[in-house]
Amino acid sequence: MKIDYQEPSKDLLMRIDIHEKYGSANIDVWTNELLKPQAGMNILDVGCGAGKLSFLFNEYTKGEAKITGGDFSEELLEKAREKNKKIGANIDFQFLDFNQPFNFADNTFDLCTSAFAIYYASDLDFTFGEAHRVLNSGGRLFVSGPLPENKQMFYDVIKEATGAAIPPMPGSSRFKGDIFNTISKIFAKTELHKFENHLTFPEVAPFMDYVRASLGEDRKLWTSMFNGADEYEALIGKIEAVAKKWLDRDGKLVMTKVVGGILATK
Ligand SMILES: C[S@@+](CC[C@H](N)C(=O)[O-])C[C@H]1O[C@@H](n2cnc3c(N)ncnc32)[C@H](O)[C@@H]1O
Repeated sequence: MKIDYQEPSKDLLMRIDIHEKYGSANIDVWTNELLKPQAGMNILDVGCGAGKLSFLFNEYTKGEAKITGGDFSEELLEKAREKNKKIGANIDFQFLDFNQPFNFADNTFDLCTSAFAIYYASDLDFTFGEAHRVLNSGGRLFVSGPLPENKQMFYDVIKEATGAAIPPMPGSSRFKGDIFNTISKIFAKTELHKFENHLTFPEVAPFMDYVRASLGEDRKLWTSMFNGADEYEALIGKIEAVAKKWLDRDGKLVMTKVVGGILATK
């Protein structure tokens, strides 16, 4: 399966910012507690984007781990490199397409992570086979992604606004099924962990910022619903009207992000 996907960096950074401002729980704390990366570890972060997870591990290990972040978006890699320089970190951000052989020797890493990225892989057996190959024996793979019940309210608002059935997202529909199954087939031990974050919006504007910043991520959903800029704005207007109605009724808008973390050992 070929999934056409390009994440504009401003959309990704906007969503990260909204999670931090309006969320009830911090995914970084959850991730660190689950993985406890250690000084001296060799870590690969696949689909690193602007480097969120790579910087998190760097901070947690006080710069004492060897971290490589790989992504196929030069725009996002450039953002990551800028921050790397600015904070004086030593993370190696390099080109990596997870649909191609990883450019590393067998048994290189202690931890291979991928946050909200690898579920777009075209051939899961191939990509997770590569992750397994580059991990040391006893090394761990961590993959996070949305579970099917993720941001139900977001889809309910869109459904009410458009009257259309919402197709399942490539990420959430594959995560608990195909992706979990592929990993447990290849790795010795596989567990599924869960993280919930209630985003509470006291007004409509930040929710609409989130809606707009999801255009890139939910590309398949959106492109089936509008043609061109005018239809897009008309759709946004309808969504905003429903969001206002819900806010007037409930006094707030609550959207729950439900994230799965697959943790596997080689
Ligand atoms: C939602 S972002 C997540 C980025 C980052 N891990 C984070 O948590 O902020 C998804 C990332 O997957 C990357 N990506 C998508 N397809 C890819 C591919 N074939 N190879 C490498 N990276 C890819 C995108 O460029 C983007 O950076």
